[in-house]
Amino acid sequence: MGDLKNRALRVGIVGSGYVGLTSAACLSSLGHRVTAVDLDREKVLQLRNGEIPIFEPGLDELVADGLGQRRLRFTVDYKQLADSEIVLLCLPTPQGPDGVPDISCIETAARDLAAVLAPSAVLLTKSTVPVGAHHRVREWLGRDDVVVASNPEFLREGSAIADFMEPDRIVIGANDPRAIGIIERLYAPLEAEIQVTDVTSAELVKYASNSFLATKLSFINEMARLCEATGADVDAVARGMGSDRRIGNDFMRSGPGWGGSCFPKDTRGLTSVASAVALELTITSAAIQSNEEQLDYTYGRIMSLLEQPPCASTIGGWGLTFKANTDDVRESPAVHLTKRLVASGANVMTYDPAAAKEATPGTWAEDPYAATQDADLVVVLTEWDEFADIDFGRLALTVKRPVIFDARSIVDAAAAASHGFTVHRIGRPTVFPLAEDSAGYFDLTRGLMLGAEIASTEVTAGDAVP
Ligand code: UGA
Repeated sequence: MGDLKNRALRVGIVGSGYVGLTSAACLSSLGHRVTAVDLDREKVLQLRNGEIPIFEPGLDELVADGLGQRRLRFTVDYKQLADSEIVLLCLPTPQGPDGVPDISCIETAARDLAAVLAPSAVLLTKSTVPVGAHHRVREWLGRDDVVVASNPEFLREGSAIADFMEPDRIVIGANDPRAIGIIERLYAPLEAEIQVTDVTSAELVKYASNSFLATKLSFINEMARLCEATGADVDAVARGMGSDRRIGNDFMRSGPGWGGSCFPKDTRGLTSVASAVALELTITSAAIQSNEEQLDYTYGRIMSLLEQPPCASTIGGWGLTFKANTDDVRESPAVHLTKRLVASGANVMTYDPAAAKEATPGTWAEDPYAATQDADLVVVLTEWDEFADIDFGRLALTVKRPVIFDARSIVDAAAAASHGFTVHRIGRPTVFPLAEDSAGYFDLTRGLMLGAEIASTEVTAGDAVP
């Protein structure tokens, strides 16, 4: 990390959600003096006591450190930002009607800040706002001396601190050299690549990045469906493709479909921005449609594995959050699928290590084994480590039928098979249990009996082979 000597800034942060709180904690740990404003009095009181209202690994220590060093404070009062040299807008921009992001929180904040901001302060938008929103922020603010700039965030829930501290790049959208200098000072200790561009391009970088990543996922999910139909293994296909550096191995894990508070909103946001200028984004639209198909496909796979009608079936559901290491269930494929399974008449028991129990449309269970009591099928919907580390001996004693549908492909299928489970996955061959009198597995794909010495390397039998 670089040096901040004599260069610490007085920073204001508006909004203490995922982005605001992570930014506040990280910037204070870099040495800046940070004042974070949130209008939720209850939340501010909690934060002053070092209580973190969200689940984000490592954030509690960073906040406690900032409070202890007196470099971080929380308030409900905008006036506390009167001496800030730079103020970051970190407010929610939920999806409004027609997919257009609702930026009314930004409007309210800009109007409130107008009377407060110091002369020549920099107002930096970190929230994901529609392309061109900075023109409106300038109007709402009505202050010619304040520079409005864009600095999109690329934080992932669950790894937000690492993403903040070791960013792949920092994008600054601004055209005022003094403002650019202040923003560079903000991030000086990180030694990350800083890309300076015009404000509109910076706003678009965020939407384009999220839409591209969502498209990559939709593509690999389509490949998974094709693998399943042809007997190929999407894991091997993704690895083979990803080794080409132009493609890359990241964001190549197939699953039940992508979700969360960003990709669904931002892909729709991008297509709505385009239609406002009479453009149709066929690739992004197809990625959205393909994602809906992936959810339908996953639901169909689960239904096909029930031996009884759904109303006579018990399903043990593992996972509710949209991915692991977060408590966020917004637009979660796991919630969507659980809801559909409940609607089908199935008795669905849910366990998730971090989600609120109220989030399940089914029945809450206190641990993964309680969720699978007398289950006809175990369904893995979120890739928590806890599910990868499961005790299959114990699990075998709780279920009625030893069948797992692992939508995230995280379960140790060979270990499960050695305890009598059949493991079905998306885009990968099904793994069958070892016959009691055999010394190995029968690999249907190759028509071979394979020895126990390679059992641990997950010998499988292809679904597609008659
Ligand atoms: C996403 C982006 O990755 C961040 O760069 C961005 O800053 C953030 O949105 C935002 O706009 O604020 P996040 O929504 O936290 O971050 O989650 P991701 O880790 O990107 O996952 C999104 C979805 O894709 C999840 O449903 C996840 O399960 C799925 N996914 C991800 C896969 O199915 N496979 C993968 O290989 C990766």
